[in-house]
Amino acid sequence: MSLMRRLKSGLRKEQKPWLGLLGEVAWGTSLALYEAILLGDKAWWWQIHYHLWRAYGDWDPDAVLASLSAEEDLGTLAYGETPASSIKRALSMCREHFPNAFSLCDLGAGRGVLSMTCAALGWDVLAVEYLAEFLKRSEPVCQKMGLTVDWVQGDFLKLPLPPADIIHTAGTAYPTEFRQKLADKFFTEGTAEQGFLLQDWILDEERFEALAGVRLPVTWGSSYFTLHRLRRDEATAS
Ligand SMILES: C[S@@+](CC[C@H](N)C(=O)[O-])C[C@H]1O[C@@H](n2cnc3c(N)ncnc32)[C@H](O)[C@@H]1O
Repeated sequence: MSLMRRLKSGLRKEQKPWLGLLGEVAWGTSLALYEAILLGDKAWWWQIHYHLWRAYGDWDPDAVLASLSAEEDLGTLAYGETPASSIKRALSMCREHFPNAFSLCDLGAGRGVLSMTCAALGWDVLAVEYLAEFLKRSEPVCQKMGLTVDWVQGDFLKLPLPPADIIHTAGTAYPTEFRQKLADKFFTEGTAEQGFLLQDWILDEERFEALAGVRLPVTWGSSYFTLHRLRRDEATAS
């Protein structure tokens, strides 16, 4: 495999930073250095990256997407990753508002860096992912590292909403109609005890309360992470 191929972060073409591959490599390198400064003393951080690097050596996200039929492509399968340092910071924000939270579900888990980081930090994690290829490659990494991540394959819009304390999803690329359906699902299946940590998506409606927010780096630039809870009073329930 060529060096250029290995340096590529796996973002889809439309998500690549300004200046194309050059920008992608510059941003990826800066992010890796930033993470190494913050987390380089943690063995799990090195192990996650080493094992994923080995597991995904020959992975081509464009080819995986191209192999899907029109019905299989949900239109939400954009790829990018939340680095460990960003989810660690977002989890601290969650604990300020949900001090007893200990389980997290990542709706659309991708390779599972976010899920594996949460597990390494002591959380119980459920990783839901549509593309079976990710489960095939990442589940063995979790087992090898002894991380408590349960993987479920399927469309999270159709699966029941898990009863995790924190529900996370990277909503950056979700179309408006999809967001509407997902917000309805949160409202009908969620509980007021759950936190909804959403990237680049603020639920600005009376059914939800935005509790806190923070902008953090992700592989495609930066995302605004907003933590919400459901309002379960009579006005919204009717
Ligand atoms: C931008 S990546 C985020 C990965 C990870 N959550 C993170 O933040 O690092 C989005 C992932 O969600 C998956 N996805 C998108 N829509 C989905 C759906 N309806 N059901 C299950 N997975 C989905 C995609 O395949 C992709 O792997």
